[in-house]
Amino acid sequence: MQIVSVDMSPRVLAVTWSDGAVSRYPYQFLRDNDPAGFHPQTQEWLLDLLSVPEAEEPRRVALADGMLEIDWSSSDARTRIPADWLARHRPGRRAEDPADVAAVTWGAEFAEALPRFDARRLLADQGYFLDWLMATKRFGLSVVSGIEDDEEAGVAIGKRIGFLRQTNFGATFRVETMPDPNNLAYTSHALALHTDLPNQELPPGYQFLHCVRNGAVGGESVFADAYRIAEEVRRADVEAFALLTTIPAPYRFHDREFDIRVHRPLIGLDERGRVFDVRYSAHLMDAFDMDADVMVDYYRAYRLFMKETRDLRHGIAFKLGAGEMAVFDNRRVLHGRKAFNPATGHRLLKGFYVDRGEFDSRIRKLIAV
Ligand SMILES: [Fe+2]
Repeated sequence: MQIVSVDMSPRVLAVTWSDGAVSRYPYQFLRDNDPAGFHPQTQEWLLDLLSVPEAEEPRRVALADGMLEIDWSSSDARTRIPADWLARHRPGRRAEDPADVAAVTWGAEFAEALPRFDARRLLADQGYFLDWLMATKRFGLSVVSGIEDDEEAGVAIGKRIGFLRQTNFGATFRVETMPDPNNLAYTSHALALHTDLPNQELPPGYQFLHCVRNGAVGGESVFADAYRIAEEVRRADVEAFALLTTIPAPYRFHDREFDIRVHRPLIGLDERGRVFDVRYSAHLMDAFDMDADVMVDYYRAYRLFMKETRDLRHGIAFKLGAGEMAVFDNRRVLHGRKAFNPATGHRLLKGFYVDRGEFDSRIRKLIAV
């Protein structure tokens, strides 16, 4: 895209592009983004914005060799900005992000379309690895199969995305029955659909459950897309949805060593009003502490959400076999399991998390290759 003309208006420079579109750049923005104001190696800002007058205006603006040249009125400084940089940074247009993958929500029919990826190929083929990350982000859930019979083999795949998110359960955790459990996961009970660690200020992003052994009868994994469930609640009862997105609900985990609590809405919305994350674990709610009148209505909303999670139209269930790993967005996809009989065989899942930030970063880096 070429610049056809520039026009010095009060406070903003109007740039007309070859397709007729006009972009308006505040002078502060042009001064602030002077390429000379960045560290050449790290590309971090070095210019102290407060060293520039707020009412900075150009004395002269010119186009030369695909560059916009600006001489400023307050100093001898000359800013030279490439026209293609300006084309990519038009005010009012959100910067493009290759990791901005639109979520495709699903219900029970997803059981037939679950994205599956082969572990050996993931380790050998970067394009395939990127396909896996994109599919996992799009649907919030995928399965990796063919993982070596080694507790660390699933972890090794996760570490190719980024560093692991450490929590009070460690950098990795083993889900198996324990004699002295501090969490229902470490029993053979059924686990209702939930997200992990909603009691954390920032609950972990992607969760990985690598099935190392699954010889026990029962223990099928269950998943449901909470984005879909939240939208069902929004459709069914706008007031209930509003309560779930605004009232800070109390979440708490505590054991002998930790007492980790937070108040947050159950459903998080992004700045565009789309469901962005969900915190839901009936086991980890603290006693509600909102105003009594609000609480009466909140219970109605909470029960409606809970009822939707039990609706079989939303969930899928399948048994992970040894060498398979479920990978899912813990802030989007609810997970649970059916009860199993520990007397019939050993069930061991190796779990860990990689946060959304590291996951998205790997997508961007692989696309840039
Ligand atoms: Fe869990």
